[in-house]
Amino acid sequence: MDTSARSGEPGRWPSLASAFLSAAGQEVNRAVCREALVTAGLLREPWLARAFDNVDREAFVPSAVWLPVRDADGLWQFVDRNEDPAAWRRAVWNPYQSVVTQLDDGNGTPGPRAGDFTSSVSALDIVMRKLGHLDLTPGSRVLEIGYGSGYHTALLCERVGADRVVAVEVDEQLARAGAARLKAAGYDPDLVVGDGLKGAPGREPSDRIISTAAVRRVPYAWIEQAEPDGVILTPFGTAYSNAGLLRLRVDRTGTRAQGAFVGEAAYMWIRSERPAVVLRVPEESRRRRSPIDPAQATAGGYLQDFAIGLQVPDVSFSHRGDGDERRVQFVDEAGTSATVVRYGDWWEDDAVTSWGPRDLWAEVTAAYAWYEVRGRPHITRFGVTVDGAGRRVWLDEPRRVVGA
Ligand SMILES: C[S@@+](CC[C@H](N)C(=O)[O-])C[C@H]1O[C@@H](n2cnc3c(N)ncnc32)[C@H](O)[C@@H]1O
Repeated sequence: MDTSARSGEPGRWPSLASAFLSAAGQEVNRAVCREALVTAGLLREPWLARAFDNVDREAFVPSAVWLPVRDADGLWQFVDRNEDPAAWRRAVWNPYQSVVTQLDDGNGTPGPRAGDFTSSVSALDIVMRKLGHLDLTPGSRVLEIGYGSGYHTALLCERVGADRVVAVEVDEQLARAGAARLKAAGYDPDLVVGDGLKGAPGREPSDRIISTAAVRRVPYAWIEQAEPDGVILTPFGTAYSNAGLLRLRVDRTGTRAQGAFVGEAAYMWIRSERPAVVLRVPEESRRRRSPIDPAQATAGGYLQDFAIGLQVPDVSFSHRGDGDERRVQFVDEAGTSATVVRYGDWWEDDAVTSWGPRDLWAEVTAAYAWYEVRGRPHITRFGVTVDGAGRRVWLDEPRRVVGA
């Protein structure tokens, strides 16, 4: 059995990014990007159009970056502005693609590489979509989690004024570089180096809290640091699927936040939220037959994965092998249970092998059946409530709880 695990990545964005590039040809620049954002309806709010015009994205993107696109050797493509300025500009102004600024927490060398994305200048389409959901008014106080390059922070400053923006970044090196870029561009928000899961203790409460990294649990500190009626907007995922954009409204008492997913968002994890499994399953295994073709539950796309993940939040999956050897492996976060299902001959009596106390394929097929029986509910029908008692995930209305 393999000892690492990673659940599927949402698949929509890479195709949009390359479709944009082939339609735009070689000449991808600020004006072409603006046009695409306008056509997509993402600059409808006048302040967003103004902020896009006023903040020069190029001033926030480092010269050496990676693209979330693999080269022929399966490595992340690397672009250096000094060597290929046109390719760098295409990367900066592709509205559907993030520009990766750090791999593996800054460990390793520049150049084409394998590795995990640990910071990026987020793609403009999702940045604008998120800001549209934030309901920012000029008087709002905003707390941003994960300021990285500072580009998004600058957009916030454009709307509410730098004196009303507090931004937190956990990585010291990125924080220093982002702070320098913000200063050079003339913005002076309150920048904090620390763990954004704790918010920004000691500051005035915020009307809006926006995270640019994904959480698995909305920290109660954010609710405590939000004004009553405030909005919390964050990418949200489970070990199974990291694909939701959650918008919570804090209630009048300031003790509970509740709201629905407003769409999809594929963000990197808040550092301490990264699923990391150390497998320590017993050697003995048991085998059985699968009730369904595993592809039904695992190849339904990221919206299906997201809904299944809400039911089995501590389970992750990954694919192994090719052709007849292809199989899917599920592991639980504690690392004490694992299940492998073969695709090639899934109907055979022994196609499912499990180790440890849980039968993870049984849990996933039950979650998949639940999803089908309820008519494949869209991500926007799910919501979350967070209060002093913990977290509940619900379908359509807070009293129809479907998970914790
Ligand atoms: C997708 S990047 C976005 C960066 C920035 N908003 C931008 O567009 O340039 C997410 C950022 O969140 C930061 N981050 C991860 N975990 C964090 C935490 N616990 N507290 C604060 N920042 C965190 C990462 O270091 C990274 O810079």
